Amino acid sequence: MAEVIDGKIVAEDVVQKVKALTADLIAKGKAKPGLAVVIVGEDPASQVYVASKSRTAKECGFHSLQHTLPADTSEEALLKIIGELNADPAVNGILVQLPLPVHIDAGKIIQAIAPQKDVDGFHFINVGKLGTGELETAFVPCTPAGSMLLIERVRGKDLSGLNAVVVGRSNIVGKPMANLLLAANCTVTIAHSRTKDLPALARTADILVAAVGRPEMVKGDWVKPGATVIDVGINRIPAPEKGEGKTRLVGDVAYAEAAKAAGAITPVPGGVGPMTIAMLMANTLASAYLAAG
Ligand code: GUN
Repeated sequence: MAEVIDGKIVAEDVVQKVKALTADLIAKGKAKPGLAVVIVGEDPASQVYVASKSRTAKECGFHSLQHTLPADTSEEALLKIIGELNADPAVNGILVQLPLPVHIDAGKIIQAIAPQKDVDGFHFINVGKLGTGELETAFVPCTPAGSMLLIERVRGKDLSGLNAVVVGRSNIVGKPMANLLLAANCTVTIAHSRTKDLPALARTADILVAAVGRPEMVKGDWVKPGATVIDVGINRIPAPEKGEGKTRLVGDVAYAEAAKAAGAITPVPGGVGPMTIAMLMANTLASAYLAAG
């Protein structure tokens, strides 16, 4: 059976390190790192994520600001808030929770965030730095950055020559994940909905990352024996066995089957999920260190 990669433990390690380095920064007379989280509308999942981000920021000793805006907020009003946060020296990181309501152009909002405060790593400048291997100064998107830490926990830092297959080509996870693995000298393939014979391709992977948002799509016989399986999916599905109307969370990987073949695997929940928030704190701290000089 596979080793279960406990994301809660690794994330807590990261948070404790961020907390200690924040205390150091403050002891040196520098300002607290500041994180501004902006949420537009009432998407319940987004509200849970945002509350958790703000809570962890406070736990790290950050200055934590939250803008909760009504669903009918105009693009112009949101751009104005971003402009103010860009200019606010107490703010080192700005995160606009996605998805945004459809009347707002999310691309325009993301590109309006100052690249040096783009702790989500979604601005073209940061995407470009990651794509060209300028990892020292890039903000890397939190979920793939956290997934890399989990991979390194089980495989060590040297991933050179390993075959990596990333299933999913989103800008938030799939593409940056592939770039990180490439920067780590893996041989990387990005698979997507048009990929031919996905099970056979997946079986070539020493590192298999699933980030498609399809419950339990990756089956046990897609997993090469001994592979490291990283499940980025968080899907809520009906769970009639728990009672009428009940649901449960599953990943993009059929966990029980995959765990029989894998060398190591992340569970859902408790795998990649906790890493996303921890890496957001790490990015905000890095931004504060850069600003403090
Ligand atoms: N919505 C889902 N994941 C994310 C994320 O990583 N960042 C932001 N801003 N919104 C999200």
